[in-house]
Amino acid sequence: MIGEKDIEALFERQLARINDGELRGKVVKTFVLACRRGHWESLEAMKKMPFTLLTDTLGVGFVEHTIAVTEGAAALGRAQAEAYSRLPYAIDFDRLYAGGLLHDVGKLLEIEPDGRGGYRKSLPGKFTRHPVSGAILAAECGLPGDVINIIVCHAKEGEGRPQVVEAVLIHQADFATFDPLVMKQKGTLIEP
Ligand SMILES: [Fe+2]
Repeated sequence: MIGEKDIEALFERQLARINDGELRGKVVKTFVLACRRGHWESLEAMKKMPFTLLTDTLGVGFVEHTIAVTEGAAALGRAQAEAYSRLPYAIDFDRLYAGGLLHDVGKLLEIEPDGRGGYRKSLPGKFTRHPVSGAILAAECGLPGDVINIIVCHAKEGEGRPQVVEAVLIHQADFATFDPLVMKQKGTLIEP
């Protein structure tokens, strides 16, 4: 069974960036709950899960994706904070790291092994897409509304909706990892 210590080790570097200990604890709790509800029994199994079923991820797993998106969004935020003489909006890095780690946590309920070495959409995943199931899990674990906004708005559910700036950064970092894979599959990614 995947416990708090496992999640703390898995995302050690990103969790360390969350200064608010209570927030950090709630992020870990949400992951543990998602693993339990999604029947992910081991870290090995969870690491192997592709981060999407919409395209061939060419071996990029859910955990690697979560880290890349979180760090990518943080880098986007830092770049603005460092380059601008005056940042026109505040960027909250506690919120960004918490939301980044949790943006796809609902996928642990949405994707399941198909029993033949592959993966498929689960029945709960058919009922509720991961931005919504992730938001529900996070709310159950006491995450505040601003972090829930990131989870629920990071994908198409957020289009045109009010969002915190960290949701915008997570969304862009998320598609920076997804689009090249889709383009590669379609033959539109130029790789000289
Ligand atoms: Fe994602």
